[in-house]
Amino acid sequence: MLVVCVCRSVAVLTACVLVWEAQAQLLSESLPASVVLRDGQRFDYIVVGAGAAGAAAAARLVLAGASVLLVEAGGNPTSLSEVPSAAMVLLGSELDWQYRTIPNNMSCLASVGQQCRFSRGRCLGGSSAINYMLYTRGNRRDFDDMPVPGWTWDDLLPYFLQYEGLQDLDLLPPSSIPYHNTTGTMRIGFFDASQNPWHSRLIKAYKSLGLPENPDVNAESQIGVSQLIGYVYDGLRMSTARGYLAREDVKRSLRIAKYTRCTGVIIDEGKIARGVTVVQGLKKLKILARKEVILSAGAIGTPQILMLSGIGPAEHLQSMGIRVKVDLPGVGANMTDHILPLVLALVDKGEGITDDLLWLATRVEQAAELVTSASGPLTSNGLTDVSAFLNSHCYDFERRKLLNESFDGSDCESPNLQLIHAYIDRNLVAVAKPVFMQATGFNNDVVEQISIANTQYAILVISPVLLYPYSVGHVRLASSDPLAYPAIFPNFMDDERDVDDLVRSIRIVEQMIDSPPFRKRNASILHLNFRGCPSVGADREGYWRCYSRHMTYTAYHAAGTASVGGVLDARLRVRGVRRLRVADLSALPRAPRANTAAVAIAVGERVADFVLQDTW
Ligand SMILES: Cc1cc2nc3c(=O)[nH]c(=O)nc-3n(C[C@H](O)[C@H](O)[C@H](O)COP(=O)(O)OP(=O)(O)OC[C@H]3O[C@@H](n4cnc5c(N)ncnc54)[C@H](O)[C@@H]3O)c2cc1C
Ligand SMILES: *[C@@H]1O[C@H](CO)[C@@H](O)[C@H](O)[C@H]1NC(C)=O
Ligand SMILES: *[C@@H]1O[C@H](CO)[C@@H](O)[C@H](O)[C@H]1NC(C)=O
Ligand SMILES: *[C@@H]1O[C@H](CO)[C@@H](O)[C@H](O)[C@H]1NC(C)=O
Ligand SMILES: *[C@@H]1O[C@H](CO)[C@@H](O)[C@H](O)[C@H]1NC(C)=O
Ligand SMILES: *[C@@H]1O[C@H](CO)[C@@H](O)[C@H](O)[C@H]1NC(C)=O
Repeated sequence: MLVVCVCRSVAVLTACVLVWEAQAQLLSESLPASVVLRDGQRFDYIVVGAGAAGAAAAARLVLAGASVLLVEAGGNPTSLSEVPSAAMVLLGSELDWQYRTIPNNMSCLASVGQQCRFSRGRCLGGSSAINYMLYTRGNRRDFDDMPVPGWTWDDLLPYFLQYEGLQDLDLLPPSSIPYHNTTGTMRIGFFDASQNPWHSRLIKAYKSLGLPENPDVNAESQIGVSQLIGYVYDGLRMSTARGYLAREDVKRSLRIAKYTRCTGVIIDEGKIARGVTVVQGLKKLKILARKEVILSAGAIGTPQILMLSGIGPAEHLQSMGIRVKVDLPGVGANMTDHILPLVLALVDKGEGITDDLLWLATRVEQAAELVTSASGPLTSNGLTDVSAFLNSHCYDFERRKLLNESFDGSDCESPNLQLIHAYIDRNLVAVAKPVFMQATGFNNDVVEQISIANTQYAILVISPVLLYPYSVGHVRLASSDPLAYPAIFPNFMDDERDVDDLVRSIRIVEQMIDSPPFRKRNASILHLNFRGCPSVGADREGYWRCYSRHMTYTAYHAAGTASVGGVLDARLRVRGVRRLRVADLSALPRAPRANTAAVAIAVGERVADFVLQDTW
């Protein structure tokens, strides 16, 4: 179910969406219209970026009675973005900025141009409108280790609770109750049951390796295998556009400028932020803030806007011909991200997708089912909600078991590894090759190898995500043109410890493939061939190191590019400038050991509190 509503023929996709659009209550109809801006127009607050954090921040300020302008480079999310099973098709679509990384010769080697795809949402909802919808908050230690006061887990929990609208508390154990809220604006819940038999087999296989089955990774312990809760409600995606911006009480007062690019912050001689410059259509405008400007343009957009405004590493700004207003070396620096090698297991020899038309017919039927009853396979996200968190340093390879004690002093309650999953029907890669290439960014040679294997077998993707990366990258301007893309140097796998951790993780995957539930089904790992890599038979460790450097992919959790303790003070204020804050994932020194939308939304909620408490 990795890709459902897609096909080589545009007809299939279109048919799917048409059936669905004909009957669905579209989100785009309940979102506010865009405003046409006038030069010199004033608002109390300007929030830049309507993503996970920005939508939350803008909505909270408006609900507190302020006049707020929300500036967003994209428009409404498309209707396809609401269909949970279609998530992968959104990568590389018009909702995606479609960034690519700068090659470092050590990672992304099997991607076109050795550049990893680096997707970011560009629409209301931002990346929360194109992501995989998994709801995880992270580990208590992620916050307790923050370099500034006031950001411990106990400080953050109220902000997670403030927006959470959990629909399925009754399915969780009583010990979970203190960790959840059922009435918040972001309604979340379990995905519909996956009809894929591998869903339960995966859980069984992890349990056979000693992982506990954990009913709630957002409660006492994060460790174990779980069916995760997601940002879904009534069978459809719950983006922050839906959760915050479509609310009647928010819509009434919030002004949103869509398809409007922020090109800089206006900073006066006294180092006070007075507003922003934007491009809307063909017009370049100055929009003024009576009180504050809040940047929520994400871990790439925010440092770009800061640097364009003269806030950043002085030397770099000068080399771009930008006048330095505040020399802040941390802007764009210290970027970390969660990476994974795509690891593929050959599983079923089943029916597969053989006939385009037959396939089309079933998909259209499913689309109809989705709109009439908000159920059926399109509302599930396949195997993606099965996920495991563990610390690989607490795994005993001899006994093939996860222990609750480590050999090297690692804290077994802090995961360094998340395993994520997807299922590719037999023959799907061949049938939907352009879509697969667009979504993954892999080069033709690799896609061809996968496609050939996939004509024989369905493929189970079992990928280890590195949750505590040591490699550090950065974002720089590639040009002083504010409409140009910035240069993203993630520097994946620059630190050998990351490769060590990945290879240790792949060994766990190998042991899982060799566990009874998988052995019984004759599952095997697909050993892709890469020029320059040793063969797996000759040098197993060397093969997987080399493999990881080729099949690098990101979980799109980049953080740290304008973080508290460096660029920001503990109340998210940019150092050296007044009335300017950052609220998005760039504000965290590193991403929590989990998927990152939950914390981004919490930061958006929190900045509104800071702003309202601090102003006058
Ligand atoms: C493909 C993918 C899958 C993911 N899967 C998951 C998952 O399953 N679970 C999870 O928790 N997290 C997931 N994430 C990560 C999560 O979605 C992000 O960490 C989170 O959305 C980041 O929030 P943010 O507010 O920092 O930025 P974003 O949500 O990216 O929002 C930034 C917004 O700013 C806008 N913007 C940028 N520059 C400008 C500008 N100059 N002018 C105007 N507007 C601008 C952008 O268009 C965007 O709308 C995924 C991300 C991606 C891309
Ligand atoms: C980068 O790759 C090229 C060819 O692929 C190789 O010759 C070179 O040694 C590599 N450089 C580093 C620093 O690894
Ligand atoms: C739960 O959500 C409601 C509605 O947003 C909010 O009023 C309440 O304060 C939240 N509860 C907690 C504990 O945050
Ligand atoms: C990056 O982070 C490290 C440690 O968190 C810090 O010492 C360093 O100063 C940061 N770098 C920049 C350029 O801010
Ligand atoms: C591991 O041990 C710690 C304390 O020793 C305990 O709190 C935790 O619940 C245990 N975790 C698991 C997964 O058993
Ligand atoms: C696995 O392989 C054996 C031997 O080739 C075969 O008999 C069996 O049917 C296979 N099982 C499955 C589930 O394909």
